[in-house]
Amino acid sequence: MWTEPEIGGTAGAQFPPGPRMLPRVLSGRAFREDPIQFLTDNARRYGDLVHFRAFEGHVFQFNHPELIRELVVDNERRNRRAAVMQRARGLLGDGLLTSEEPLHMRQRRLAQPAFHRQRIAAYGEVIAQVAAEITERWKPGVMDLHPEMLLLALRIVGKCLFDIDGESEARAIAAAVQRFMVRPPPGWVPGRLLEVLQHIPIGPMLEVRRGMEQLDGILYGMIAERRRDPGDRGDLLSMLLAAEDTEEDAAGADRTMSDKQVRDECLTVLLAGHETTANALSFTLWLLATHAEAQERVHAEALAVLGARRPAAADYAMLTYTHGAFAEGMRLMPTVWVIGRSSGPEPYGFRGFTIPPGAMLLAPQCVVHRDARFWVAPERFEPERFAGDDAKRPKFAYFPFGGGSRQCIGEGLAWMEGVFALATILRDWRLRPEAGAPERLPVVPSVNLRPSNGVRLVLERR
Ligand code: HEM
Repeated sequence: MWTEPEIGGTAGAQFPPGPRMLPRVLSGRAFREDPIQFLTDNARRYGDLVHFRAFEGHVFQFNHPELIRELVVDNERRNRRAAVMQRARGLLGDGLLTSEEPLHMRQRRLAQPAFHRQRIAAYGEVIAQVAAEITERWKPGVMDLHPEMLLLALRIVGKCLFDIDGESEARAIAAAVQRFMVRPPPGWVPGRLLEVLQHIPIGPMLEVRRGMEQLDGILYGMIAERRRDPGDRGDLLSMLLAAEDTEEDAAGADRTMSDKQVRDECLTVLLAGHETTANALSFTLWLLATHAEAQERVHAEALAVLGARRPAAADYAMLTYTHGAFAEGMRLMPTVWVIGRSSGPEPYGFRGFTIPPGAMLLAPQCVVHRDARFWVAPERFEPERFAGDDAKRPKFAYFPFGGGSRQCIGEGLAWMEGVFALATILRDWRLRPEAGAPERLPVVPSVNLRPSNGVRLVLERR
């Protein structure tokens, strides 16, 4: 039996407990300086439901799987996208990540077929081929594997979703994405100021605008070409262009997607599916490099299942330890380290408290994934924990891909990418950290959790 949420505070209090009226908290500095430590300390001191004021508003932090389920499943309709996503709309348009209901559900229905199990199985071949091509070029010695994982993830998304084959095309997109991502809209810049900044073509905003124009050029170019020469190429773009909404609620509305909508979805998937997967892979490679025994087990499994050939979809279910290693990597170092929502225009009741309109709502993977109530020896890297009884934990004790109606649409693809890339790499290579490397990989909790200075490892051919 798992523990019930522990909600502290005095009877009749207006809000749950939390750090109160400290200038560092109010100004948002405590959060900005080290958000993971700040959220972890809050959970330890104040329990499973925490409230504080920061960023000129109310913030609620949910630290128990049951409360997180209530937030992102039961109360999803009462909430909106997090403020940072709402601000990103100026650049990303109305894709899955940024759109609100009812548009979100409609777009999700139309994009879903590209992520069905059978499609993912077909993408397995692409993943295996890209992983082999990239690793075949590696040479023994020290190498930063993070750019390699970024290229791998980008080429896979490029091929599976847009049928882009070549490395040079993938690199052109990568360069544009890089410019675009130079300065993601920071969560703490007030919305109105950001809107103004986005229209002043100077400094970093100019870079972002140029990156977006480049990406738009590529995406609208692909869309126009497909409109001229339609047909199913087995990728997301074909599906979006062919998608027709047959649901009743679309009566009267345009049943197909405009070029702008297709562009918004493509850009969203490109951004959502690229760095997330690359970071998760980079972190797992680091953890395996620093845990030699676990690395040997991944190697042995890959060799036993694959021999000398590339992985195929049917191998996926056999690579169970490798799957556990990727899962454990995302537990200890979750790329998406906190799920954010903003409460909608109506206040609503939550466990005896009232959530006011426009509050910031946070469900931190970085805290819950290390909670000793749900994980035995939570600080230890133990891929085997995903095979045993531990797997019976509540759903939201482990949520690297979120949950509810906004659960990651690319989850199946990401799992296959992670497992196949790890098996390919560790069958052929032995990894270890450089002499004198820090025990923990330095990371920055930006929009995603990412390595601060890459992931430099020593590679030895097996
Ligand atoms: C390890 C890799 C990945 C991780 C950890 C990850 C994580 C997440 C999380 C936590 C969310 C939910 C965010 C929220 O509730 O606010 C999400 C949403 C999303 N992800 Fe992923 N993701 C990964 C890979 C991918 C891939 C490969 C794709 C596409 C090819 C993708 C596309 C999306 C999209 C479109 C959404 C928005 C879904 C919606 O709101 O309906 N992700 N992802």
